[in-house]
Amino acid sequence: MPGGGSGAWDAIVVGAGAAGMFAAIEAGRRGRRGLLIDHAAKPGEKIRISGGGRCNFTNTGISADNYLGKNPRFALSALKRFTQWDIAGALSGAGIAWHEKTLGQLFCDGSARQVVDWLTAEMRAAGVELWLSCEPGEVTRGAEGFALTTSRGIQRSRALVVASGGKSIPKMGASGWGYRVAADFGIPVTGTRPALVPLTFAEQELAWIRPLAGVSLPVRVSCGGQAFDEAMLFTHRGLSGPAVLQISSYWREGQAISVDLLPQGGAAEVLRGAKRRMGRSGLAAALAELMPERLARHLAEAHGKGQPLAEMSGAVLDSVAGSLGDWRLTPVGSEGYRTAEVTLGGVDTDALDARTMEAKAVPGLHFVGEVVDITGWLGGYNFQWAWSSGWAAGQVL
Ligand code: FDA
Repeated sequence: MPGGGSGAWDAIVVGAGAAGMFAAIEAGRRGRRGLLIDHAAKPGEKIRISGGGRCNFTNTGISADNYLGKNPRFALSALKRFTQWDIAGALSGAGIAWHEKTLGQLFCDGSARQVVDWLTAEMRAAGVELWLSCEPGEVTRGAEGFALTTSRGIQRSRALVVASGGKSIPKMGASGWGYRVAADFGIPVTGTRPALVPLTFAEQELAWIRPLAGVSLPVRVSCGGQAFDEAMLFTHRGLSGPAVLQISSYWREGQAISVDLLPQGGAAEVLRGAKRRMGRSGLAAALAELMPERLARHLAEAHGKGQPLAEMSGAVLDSVAGSLGDWRLTPVGSEGYRTAEVTLGGVDTDALDARTMEAKAVPGLHFVGEVVDITGWLGGYNFQWAWSSGWAAGQVL
């Protein structure tokens, strides 16, 4: 086993997630002696639980617009060289069937575990050594390359790939290790915060939201000039569902979000039509033609309109309809890294080479995947960044 002095590895990759496994496989295929280390007991745990267990592994519509960070265009070089069709083709080639769901999202037909098993088999075939339950520590760099302290002794290598992910879901092994390595080498890290995360509210709003826990409906949520048309879910803690997770990446403390509860429009016409057809019914019955019944009842109570529709003027119905299109509320925070799908921010892309993911000031040191300041929308964009950036680094290790 290599490990000291002359028996050094060509490349050590820390983090057996999507990005790290891809970098290690590519390096191994190119004949490099690669070691992949993870402190977790199993590789690819986030892949396994992703996409509700079916792994939304990419999206048909990948562009810089689907990414956040100081410079989202940094991602394009890697995204264009290893594309969504490359990963889809690789999975098909491995016998893993997939399908397109909504909004260009590609999911496995079966279990996400198939993807982990495929990556593990590819690593084996490429001769990558995988050390699980192995804790990395300090990294130093000398004339011969890198020395990494690990719980299995000091390991030396020509190149080091930091693929340790972000801070989200510490219970699943997330740690700040990659950011610390960057800081130790003087590489800037932009401010990090939880993203793709449910938003939380003060008691006043919660008192209104809580009774609706479990209700879900299609909405348009906007904030900071960005809008998403997807489902929203009321929970005991606040608002969740894809539309809210998406907007959480753009929301900042103190800002209000606007929820259009009827993005399909036409509420005024429906309410006026209901008045003609069922004048003796109340507002709740009319709203129930537009949205889940529990929400309709709750909204009608909030509007305090107990009288029959026949007794409500067209102007009142129009104002009810108008208010449904712009429900403004100010979150107090988010559920944080405990449930966030990703971490916004990370290793500053200005400090990295977009082709190789190598630190400009530290030859041989690469950062790939979520640890980098590139964050995708919900919908397969984050795994695509992990595959593409891992692949890009793997070409030069
Ligand atoms: P990732 O976090 O996957 O891997 C990092 C690895 O480094 C882990 O194995 C970890 O144990 C290891 N590590 C961390 N610290 C270490 C240390 N100190 N020492 C040793 N090892 C260390 N995205 C998407 O595109 N489609 C989807 O369907 C989903 N679904 C989804 C669901 C849920 C619940 C979550 C939390 C996230 C998603 N995502 C997603 C996001 C996606 O999982 C994420 O963007 C990628 O996993 C990032 O891949 P990386 O390889 O960069 O990090």
